[in-house]
Formats: sequence, C-alpha cells, structure tokens
Amino acid sequence: MVRVVVTGAAGFIGSRVAEAAAEAGHDVLAVDAPDRSLAPATARRTWDALGPPRIELDLASADLAPLASADVVVHLAGRPGIRSSWDAGDAVHRDNVVATRRVLAAARGRVVVASSSSVYGSAGRDRPTREDDPLAPASPYAVSKVAVEGLARRRPDTVVLRYFSVYGPGQRPDMAFHRFTEAALAGRPLPVFGDGRKARSFTHVDDVVAATLAAMTAEAPGGTAINVGHPEPVTVRAAIALLGRVLGVRPEIETAEPVAGDADRTWADPSLARELLGWTPRIALADGLADQIAWHREIALAVL
Ligand SMILES: NC(=O)c1ccc[n+]([C@@H]2O[C@H](COP(=O)([O-])OP(=O)(O)OC[C@H]3O[C@@H](n4cnc5c(N)ncnc54)[C@H](O)[C@@H]3O)[C@@H](O)[C@H]2O)c1
Repeated sequence: MVRVVVTGAAGFIGSRVAEAAAEAGHDVLAVDAPDRSLAPATARRTWDALGPPRIELDLASADLAPLASADVVVHLAGRPGIRSSWDAGDAVHRDNVVATRRVLAAARGRVVVASSSSVYGSAGRDRPTREDDPLAPASPYAVSKVAVEGLARRRPDTVVLRYFSVYGPGQRPDMAFHRFTEAALAGRPLPVFGDGRKARSFTHVDDVVAATLAAMTAEAPGGTAINVGHPEPVTVRAAIALLGRVLGVRPEIETAEPVAGDADRTWADPSLARELLGWTPRIALADGLADQIAWHREIALAVL
C-alpha cells in the first residue's frame, strides 16, 4: 500500500487511475482544480461520485503542501488537446508547465508525469517511434509537453509517460471517437479533420491505467520517458469502419480542414514499457471501441 496523490482526478484518465489505485488497496487522495471547468461534464459527475477522498487545488497557484506527504504523486492534471492549444493563449503554459513545475517542487517521493506522443511530431513509415528518437513538437500543446519533460528530467525520482491517443469509456468530448460515436448515434455525419488517412496508435484507457499504476513503483532511472501506446497504428478511416461495424451502421463522413500541428502518424514502440513496467497493451481496437460505444449508450440513457 502506498500513499498516492492523483492530480487531474476529475479528468478522463485521472478519474480511472484514482479509482483503480484505490481498488488496488492504495491510500488515494484525488486532486483537481476548484471549478473543474476544464473537465468534461461527464468527468464532473465522476468527480462528485469518486470513491477516494478529494481536494480542490489549482496546481498553478495554490499551496501544494498536501502533496508532500504522498509516497507517489501521479500528475495527470493539465490542459490537453492539440487543436484547442492554438487559441488557449497562456493557459496551456500555465496548466501544463507552471503546474508541473510546482508539483515537482512540492512532491517528496516518486512523481509519475503525463506527457504525450505529440512530442515526437509525426512517426516515419518504416518503424515505430522509440523514446530516444528526436523530438519535433508542432503545436503549443506539444511544445508545453516537451517543457514538462525537461522539468521532469531535472528531478531524480520522476517517470514520464508518453501516452498515445487514449480512448475508451469517459473519453473527453473533444476527442475523435467521442465526437464520432455521438454523431453516429444521433444519425449525423461523422466530423473528420482532414482526409481520414492519419494513423494513430489508439490505446485503451484500461491499458493506460495499468501502465500508470505500474510506473508508481517500477525501478527506472530518474526522468526516464516511456511510451505508453499500442504498437499497431490504425487510420482514422479504418477506425470509423470498425465503429460502423460495432454500431451496425454505414457511417457518413463530413470532412473539415486538417488541424495544424496534428501528426500524420503516431506509432508507438512499447519495448521500454515492457522492460521497465512489465506492460503490454492488451485491448484490441474493435473490443475497445465496443466498450466506449456501450458507455455512450449508458450516458445517453442516464440523461433521459
Ligand atoms: N487523453 C489522451 O489521449 C492523452 C494523450 C496524451 C497525453 N495526455 C495527457 O494525460 C493527462 C490527462 O489527460 P485527460 O485526457 O484525462 O485530460 P482531462 O482534461 O480529461 O483531465 C485533465 C484534468 O486536469 C485538471 N486540471 C487542469 N489544470 C489544472 C490545474 N491548474 N490545477 C488542477 N487541476 C487542473 C482539469 O480540471 C481536468 O480534470 C494530461 O496531462 C494530458 O495532456 C492525454
């Protein structure tokens, strides 16, 4: 049993990590911003229903003394999203870089920090991306995560997890599968940015939670960055075809301008995660999508 603080615990990934850590017998304190205005509505409901004790702290400005007594801080709070980061001004720096700097200074034990596959820019076609590949961030969000990683490297007992396109129940409303599923269930065309040929190492949130819990106690040199991503990239069009099959519909697509800074392809090499965390992603996209669609149907019934 370790005493663990989970930041961003009203969010998509943080809420599931907080619940899973508590279920695994750890002593969990959940932290999120006071108004949780950045959290999707569904996650706001999750926050109110969260099992572990919760406190509200703006990590970019509050006194972070509550973090000092934890054996581990899992720092998942932040302002995600490539598209929104172009218009978010200083908020991306504040909630990602300033908040992380303060969390790293306040924590006394291990800190697990959320980074992103977007630090790599686009993967090549011949092989997956490894952690020692050069970084090529192409959006304010990706640049902020490179800065977060730079700060994390300067602190001894810190592990950086580079998450790849996380999906599953509770996914943020701005993310592709959430938008696609809601549109398909409402009989609307699916809104796709670009031509749908972009490929992603889509990774189910339960796999991401397993890697994150393993990182709390794994032996790893300070500041190590680890890919947490499925090794088989799938194009957006192929994912939509799968989604249609699960829903039993033939989805129509409505294309919009591609998003600036959105990589053509992400492709994770998870070998280091296997070595250091004993982690391999287990959930295939077809099963994971069925899981996410079931969640959308549940929340649709809950608001009736
Ligand atoms: N979802 C993905 O596919 C993905 C991929 C790569 C990296 N990440 C990273 O993983 C982490 C979690 O992502 P998510 O999808 O769960 O996002 P999310 O938006 O659902 O959750 C983030 C949470 O952080 C909180 N927060 C933001 N600023 C805060 C502050 N100053 N003080 C306290 N709380 C604050 C928000 O209120 C929100 O509840 C983020 O760091 C994100 O950049 C996510």
